[in-house]
Amino acid sequence: MGKRTEENLGDAPFKVISDPSDSTILDTLEEAGDDHDLVFVDLEGVAGLMASYAASASDLCIVPMRPSALDGDAAGAALKMIRDAGRAARRTVPARILITQTDAAIVTKSHKELLAELDGAGVERLQTELMRRAPFERVMAEGRTLFELQDSQSVKSAISNTARLGKELAEILEAQ
Ligand SMILES: Nc1ncnc2c1ncn2[C@@H]1O[C@H](COP(=O)(O)OP(=O)(O)OP(=O)(O)O)[C@@H](O)[C@H]1O
Ligand SMILES: [Mg+2]
Repeated sequence: MGKRTEENLGDAPFKVISDPSDSTILDTLEEAGDDHDLVFVDLEGVAGLMASYAASASDLCIVPMRPSALDGDAAGAALKMIRDAGRAARRTVPARILITQTDAAIVTKSHKELLAELDGAGVERLQTELMRRAPFERVMAEGRTLFELQDSQSVKSAISNTARLGKELAEILEAQ
């Protein structure tokens, strides 16, 4: 958001709300839910009250995971936290793994093994993977949305990747 101000990019097509406090996060989420159709909560980690509160107040939890074994352990901890947050709230909180930073050129062996392991264990995952593409780095570096980046084939691919992911998420939410 700071970069948008510096570069005079105007208002973003979304609002950013920062609330790093355990004692107000549920109020903040409730208010945001009243004012907006979609609320995304980006957490720093899965340990602590903040993450559990956010999970228990969510319609769907997305657990991002790079296709490496190391990330798998963190994702396992996230799924357990979400399950426990649901138990405390006496409901099931839907959760899906999102494979991110997938190599667009080759599918590595560890990637294939990971998918087989997840599917074998019945862990639900989004069928759309987020590819590793330069525009996803540029949005962070420039403070621009994908649609505001200079048009290129790579930007088109990133937009269509994101649109497919959005469609899959919408289908899951609409089916609830
Ligand atoms: N799909 C992608 N393609 C290319 N680069 C990516 C992609 N996803 C993330 N990155 C790069 O990695 C950086 C960190 O990604 P991201 O912010 O999603 O990770 P994080 O684990 O949430 O990190 P943090 O601890 O900073 O919150 C991004 O700023 C971006 O430069
Ligand atoms: Mg982050």
